[in-house]
Amino acid sequence: MSIRTLLMTVSFILSVLIGLVVSQSGAKATSKSDDKIVIGLSLDTLKEARWQKDRDIFVACAKELGADVLVQAANSDDTTQMQNIEALISRNVDVLVIVPHNGKAMAKAVEKAHDAGIPVIAYDRMITDCDVDVYISFDNVKVGEMQAKFLLKTLSNHGKIIRVYGSKTDNNAFLFKQGQDNVLKPFIEKNMIEVIHEDWAEDWKPENGKKIVNAAISLHGDNFAAVLAANDGTAGGAIQALTEEGLAGKVKVIGQDAELVACQRIIQGTQTMTIYKPLKKLALRAARLAVDMAKRKVIIAKESIPNGKIDVPTIAIDVQVVTKENMEDTIVKDGFHNRKDVYGE
Ligand code: BGC
Repeated sequence: MSIRTLLMTVSFILSVLIGLVVSQSGAKATSKSDDKIVIGLSLDTLKEARWQKDRDIFVACAKELGADVLVQAANSDDTTQMQNIEALISRNVDVLVIVPHNGKAMAKAVEKAHDAGIPVIAYDRMITDCDVDVYISFDNVKVGEMQAKFLLKTLSNHGKIIRVYGSKTDNNAFLFKQGQDNVLKPFIEKNMIEVIHEDWAEDWKPENGKKIVNAAISLHGDNFAAVLAANDGTAGGAIQALTEEGLAGKVKVIGQDAELVACQRIIQGTQTMTIYKPLKKLALRAARLAVDMAKRKVIIAKESIPNGKIDVPTIAIDVQVVTKENMEDTIVKDGFHNRKDVYGE
């Protein structure tokens, strides 16, 4: 039996026993274990607080593991992100980690990386219609379901709501909506929940979240009970619109990310709930994964998610609902934010 056949057989047996073996389709054949590993990290944006945290944890962990990280941020622009990735490829990085601004547009970047023998990790957001090697994220459909379940509970299953979705260029925005729809549909069909206004916040910008709520109020007045926002950034924009109308604190607002400002708003009473996504777990896991992939180690993923072209080996990390009641036991206890910063004491 040739070595290749033997490896394929071992891969097959492993995948049946424990999960999917990440194929690293584009990877250079040789292991670079003797050289210093260089990881290319291409981010959509660093404007939102969460991505700064992701970057810092990722870079610190990779450094501890002996790797260098070249970081690029694209300011929510596809052309810039493509140029950033081309620059990283030309610097001969061992592995690329991409948070795509546009999951579809970055398929081309994966192709280019593979042509250069560089494997690619999709970080938090899926890259669609391509052979991306592995996807690491949270269970994003579950995030949407948790938001909607909490909303129903807080409204006792009845009420008028405004829905603010995320950016249409981000696959996650559709997954959050899908999760919300899974839970809300029967209540909407029975007219127990009425969606008076809904729209997509371009590029996840808080000002677009604000515009959507402003539009809802000017079209339908202030008779609604909640805003279901796709994330804390857009929830923040929504709360600005509510504040202008004297509705902040009266209308329930749902978000996600457990950003510091959102946690503060929850304590102050203008936001009702957020979802804590343990970024530390995600970033540490991704940094270790990147180093292992750079060393061309065998990677096993327990799940897979279709991306329009293949079933992408997937690693998903668990999330938690955060309210005023459990802030201390989740965010503070986990060291995600300091007690002092959250409570302003
Ligand atoms: C992430 C959210 C984030 C949003 C805007 C999504 O892909 O899952 O956590 O708030 O992007 O950056």
